[in-house]
Amino acid sequence: MKLFSDNIEDLRTLYIANLKKALDMEQNITKALPTMIEKSTDTQLATAFRDHLEQTRGHVTKVESLLRAATGEADTATCKVISALVTEAEDSIKDAGDASIRDITLIASAQQVEHHEMAVYGTLRSWAELLGEDQAADTLESILDEEKKADELLTSISDSVNTASVIPAGNTGVNANRVNTPRTQTDAYVNR
Ligand SMILES: [Fe+2]
Repeated sequence: MKLFSDNIEDLRTLYIANLKKALDMEQNITKALPTMIEKSTDTQLATAFRDHLEQTRGHVTKVESLLRAATGEADTATCKVISALVTEAEDSIKDAGDASIRDITLIASAQQVEHHEMAVYGTLRSWAELLGEDQAADTLESILDEEKKADELLTSISDSVNTASVIPAGNTGVNANRVNTPRTQTDAYVNR
């Protein structure tokens, strides 16, 4: 009786291929974040992006070491998704006239990236577990946790940035009450 199915080697190949894409993704994010920091007018948002740039550099290092341990090299493979998301972000920034609308756009774009990263690392972590790569699974879990926290921070920043951009200061009317009312998970439609 075979101890492992033949598919385990196919899964290992898939795992390595997707680690290479994750490295390309992280490298692209380190290139995109400086522009996002520069374009942010909200200081909390700029600080969040600055902190995440440091974390992202750490993700590059961690994924490189996982690849070196698995293959002896830290090669990349093109992540088409991140290129598309960065292009979308650049277009949205160009289209946003007002500074506060640009901040909203930056948060939306960053959260699209975070959600993609969460899907990537959640999958890689599960595959590492299936392959019996427990240390790699722990490393991938630690990256996933940082992506989740970055996403949650952006959601919390969006609560003030979104409100400030659409409700003039001092407005206590119907719209102000609606926007300022804490949302539940089920009725939220932005930044969740
Ligand atoms: Fe990351």
